[in-house]
Amino acid sequence: MKRKGSKNKLIASIVVAIITLLLLGLLPSSESTNSSLYHFLIRVHADGLSGGPPRIIAVIHLLLLAILGYLAVRVLNTLFSFLFRLRQGFEAPTLAQNVFSIVAFAIIFFIIFSFEFPDAPLGSLFTTSAIFGVILGLALQDTLGNFFAGISLQADRPFQVGDVITVGANKHTGVVEEITWRAIKIRTFQNHVVLINNSSAAKEPIEVCARENVNARLVYFSTLYSDSPAKTIHVVREAVREAENVSHKVTPIVRIRNLGDSGVEYELKYWLEDYAKYNDTDALIRQRIWYAFKRAGLNFSFPTRTVHVERKGVPREEDGGALVERLSAVDIFAPLSVEETGMLAQAAVRHVFAPGEIVIRAGEPGSSMFVVHNGRVRVQVNENGRPRTVATLNEGYFFGEMALFTGEPRTANVVALEETEVLEIGHAAMKTVFDANPDLVESLSFVMAERRRGLAVQTDAAATPHDESAGILSAIKRFFGLS
Ligand code: CMP
Repeated sequence: MKRKGSKNKLIASIVVAIITLLLLGLLPSSESTNSSLYHFLIRVHADGLSGGPPRIIAVIHLLLLAILGYLAVRVLNTLFSFLFRLRQGFEAPTLAQNVFSIVAFAIIFFIIFSFEFPDAPLGSLFTTSAIFGVILGLALQDTLGNFFAGISLQADRPFQVGDVITVGANKHTGVVEEITWRAIKIRTFQNHVVLINNSSAAKEPIEVCARENVNARLVYFSTLYSDSPAKTIHVVREAVREAENVSHKVTPIVRIRNLGDSGVEYELKYWLEDYAKYNDTDALIRQRIWYAFKRAGLNFSFPTRTVHVERKGVPREEDGGALVERLSAVDIFAPLSVEETGMLAQAAVRHVFAPGEIVIRAGEPGSSMFVVHNGRVRVQVNENGRPRTVATLNEGYFFGEMALFTGEPRTANVVALEETEVLEIGHAAMKTVFDANPDLVESLSFVMAERRRGLAVQTDAAATPHDESAGILSAIKRFFGLS
């Protein structure tokens, strides 16, 4: 469409130029073309409106030359834009084109003028017009301010057409549509056009979100305290990364901003393909978070106060069954009666660990053991300054029994691999269980002997499994005062 329009314009310009040249050729040479401006003006003044034909011819002559001059400027301007694009690789700014046209007009004006009126004292006219210059300067103060600010904007190129900018105290935000010699034209997200004078823009801070830059946005949300942060972060990140206009170059970041009055406050940072569409993308992301929460059973927080009354050490009614079920599935507790498992479940204390958190630290004293209720842990020892993974324990496995049953320091680090919930069982509860089930000690000593070998696999291969478990057995009996 645009191409067709410019083609028509070109044809029209050529036609006009040919007609003008023909007319110029047909015109008889007027008196004024070889006389001075002074004489020409005097004649107009003396003859008034009743002037004769030579003067009319001179005026027509001037007009035709002016048309030719205008066409010449247009041709030069097109040439300038073409060369600019060729050299710089992008379209010449409107302001640069305007400046070029003004200069070209001025030069052509001077050429025509001195050609038509060779005797007119043009130089002195300009050098003696200082007062005129001052008056003009004062009158055009703002205009010139805008003009020069516009030139400095073009030279600095802090932003370009298509970038999103926020300008000034009023925080006008929009997409830059044009930078003219007078103003920056931006289109706001309500589709309004705002014109900001170049001179005012030059004095204000301008926030630029360049089109080719991967710009980020922040979206806030909050969950109830009962919702797990690790799960929330995972769910939101996955929900957002596939949303339309979210950049694939950078993975979104979800992090806790604050532990607020009503819930855990999060911030989501994501990067956009097209920053100009951030309103729609923010909205889409909030929608995605809502649906993801619904599927994952997460809850948005709102201003509420919940009062929990909890008796320490006593599992809540609804949890009791789950704990008994979990403990009865642990192999070493298999021989226990339902009542004994129930007693252990009552004594167990639940703890939640975030991914990467240390549950047990090697070398520290310990007087309790743990059962993995949900999640996964890794048992690690330090070997020559490097961590070596000895085992990975899933739901239903136990750890921490070595220090509990022998009184020795913890033999390894135990680290949560994901969000992990453990049940902690203390010395007193285990003593009750041992008193009622002396055989348990024996089966435990076998497990512990096996684990010890895993710990010392690189260094100590001398002790036989039987010797080792016998040693552990007597150590446990001694420590728990069992016969
Ligand atoms: P404790 O020594 O109290 O603390 C570290 C725990 O890591 C230890 O008890 C065991 O429960 C556990 N552990 C040590 N070695 C192994 C192993 N080879 N396999 C599984 N668990 C182990």
